[in-house]
Amino acid sequence: MQAALDIIGEDLKLVELQFRKDLQSDVPLIRKVGEYVLSSGGKRIRPALLLLAARLCGYDADKAVPLASVVEFIHTATLLHDDVVDSATLRRGIASANTLWGNEASVLVGDFLFSKSFSLMVGVGSMDILRVLSDATTVIAEGEVMQLLCTGEIDLTEEQYINVVRSKTAILMSAACEAGAILGAASQSQQQALADYGMNLGIAFQLMDDILDYVATEEEFGKSIGHDLEEGKITMPLIRTLSRCNDSERAIIASVVEKDEMSLDDFRSVSGLVKQYGGIEYTVEHARSYINRCKCHLEMFQASPVHNALISLSDYVVTRSK
Ligand code: IPE
Ligand code: IPE
Ligand code: MG
Ligand code: MG
Repeated sequence: MQAALDIIGEDLKLVELQFRKDLQSDVPLIRKVGEYVLSSGGKRIRPALLLLAARLCGYDADKAVPLASVVEFIHTATLLHDDVVDSATLRRGIASANTLWGNEASVLVGDFLFSKSFSLMVGVGSMDILRVLSDATTVIAEGEVMQLLCTGEIDLTEEQYINVVRSKTAILMSAACEAGAILGAASQSQQQALADYGMNLGIAFQLMDDILDYVATEEEFGKSIGHDLEEGKITMPLIRTLSRCNDSERAIIASVVEKDEMSLDDFRSVSGLVKQYGGIEYTVEHARSYINRCKCHLEMFQASPVHNALISLSDYVVTRSK
């Protein structure tokens, strides 16, 4: 991360100022909820990807910052909606917006952020960028609905799971990279390479998120541990475990997945099985392999500090603890 921050740290500060400007609305609740979520310290990975991709393609003008802000707006909107759908109470180490203001306010402010993102994208004036980012928002919505339909499905295959991950998470990282490449007037093959870099990085990112849901500490992760299991989300560590455990262990997992409220003992018994059957290591290996693939897509670009920063950002994804 440090290599990235050395290069785009100043621009990221401008992105923070830009959101605040873009958040202006005559409706005080929008400013309040928006300000609360945007000030709560996200990692800003998607704006960083856009800024670095643009730089890699030689772009150093004034549209990158507003566009990076738009990408974080879209991400923030998805988080507001996602926390309602997932009944999450903790986000970035503090109470989630739905806990403080209720589901209705979270959904509506999320809608505001989505709509505002589209106005801001139109302001940037590139039809290609508008297409990439608006397609990405459609795919995210599909991903969240696909995930809903997979809830509690203990026969979910790895392939189905990865499809959900591509849609709900990786597409926005891919679109951020592609939008940066378009700003830099990169060739078609360079645009595609950066889109592929972002897609593979995004899949690895979500796999690590799913691991952290089993093994992190709440203080560091900033989100509730075991929440995926409680919500009946079948993620890769559990898919691997289900494919290796015996019938009685499978029945234990199924009963916890079906429960509305999970006890600490329930979580301990399932996470014990996940560890016993190597579900964590297996998922880390997959995340690493997506990161290796993601790096390959950078090979067509010349070595440079920006190139290094994109490599180290991808390494960070598989070592992060929050
Ligand atoms: C959270 O994304 C949603 C997932 C895709 C797992 P981040 O982990 O990037 O969230 P913030 O913005 O840093 O809080
Ligand atoms: C993240 O999925 C995807 C979106 C926010 C669209 P998760 O549900 O795994 O993300 P967290 O764990 O709530 O951040
Ligand atoms: Mg969630
Ligand atoms: Mg998660």
